[in-house]
Amino acid sequence: MRRDIINTAILWFVLTFLAELLLPNFPFPIQAAQEAVFSDESFRVLLVLGMPVFTFVVAVLAYSLWKFRARGDTLEEGAPIRGNSWVSGVWLAVTGGLCVLVIVHPGLTGLAKFAGNPQAQLVVKVTGKQWAWDVEYPAQGIVHASELVLPEGQRVEFQVTSSDVLHSFWIPAFRNKIDAVPGTVTRMYVTPNKIGSFEQDYNLRVQCAEICGAGHAIMSMPVRIVSAQDFQTWVQTQAPPTDPVKRGELLAKSQGCTACHSTDGSPGVGPTWKGLFGEQETLADGTVVTVDEAYVRESIGNPSAKIVKGYNDGLMPKNFGTTLKEGQINDLLAYIASLK
Ligand code: HEC
Repeated sequence: MRRDIINTAILWFVLTFLAELLLPNFPFPIQAAQEAVFSDESFRVLLVLGMPVFTFVVAVLAYSLWKFRARGDTLEEGAPIRGNSWVSGVWLAVTGGLCVLVIVHPGLTGLAKFAGNPQAQLVVKVTGKQWAWDVEYPAQGIVHASELVLPEGQRVEFQVTSSDVLHSFWIPAFRNKIDAVPGTVTRMYVTPNKIGSFEQDYNLRVQCAEICGAGHAIMSMPVRIVSAQDFQTWVQTQAPPTDPVKRGELLAKSQGCTACHSTDGSPGVGPTWKGLFGEQETLADGTVVTVDEAYVRESIGNPSAKIVKGYNDGLMPKNFGTTLKEGQINDLLAYIASLK
């Protein structure tokens, strides 16, 4: 028994040593905000503290499996062990103590860091809806931005809400996230600290993190972090374009249409928009219709009225008829008609 304890202790020590040696190489995703640094620090503390507990369980299990395995085909049972209050007492005290410790640090201390200073330099309003993000910059007069552009080094307050069901606003490169709840506004503060874009790293995107229906997985939006100066330039270019086709193009992105509909003929969740106008469309019930303005208008406002053959009903959101204004639908029509 004494020998077994010593062997297990050696195994535990070796496993812990190796694990702690490998920990600094843990593959964290890109950190693009001060909050990501706090979050990863906390995660590291938890790993360092939790690893010996994990390796202890693995060492005892692995050693017992190997040492006390059945030899031959004897079916005799070993002597029963009826508890050992000393061992369970020490185990409870150590793991209980560790739990209390991590609740205080990095738990409470980390939450305080995350909450931080509520004095933001930039306010961004975010509305989640099935299945896209609508982003507004009230002070800059920007509505329906097609990407989330943020200035490096400035504290941003996100005012998050939802127009239908529960969503969760999450940018993996920032780590923190907040629920988007219909009827109320939740707030999240972030200080981006690295210039970059979605094209460089896919963790720079808004991603819904609360299952919200069939389109949940495609409910994302690119994020771009730029210098404070480039941010000002971007703000100036965001005045709505005078060309309805251009306005329609931006709208198709910000409303999430192009997540399902390609504009170059490639396949997607929904039919491509390339060459849609004038096309002979075969419907699920076998009838053939010529695509004109009235058909497209109906497809947007009431997608279930006519289902395109080979596609599923119920995927395309049914509320565009009420959430989009008449002018916006006209812009979308102009854009779709331009895709020859
Ligand atoms: C979650 C995926 C999804 C989103 C987002 C989406 N659609 Fe659709 N859409 C579909 C599917 C699937 C169909 C085919 C089934 C049907 O006819 O309803 C479709 C059909 C259409 C059609 C008829 C196409 C044809 O070939 O006859 C039009 C027009 C259309 N959508 C426009 C839009 C517009 C405009 C938006 C954005 C405001 C949008 N869709 C957003 C999935 C989507």
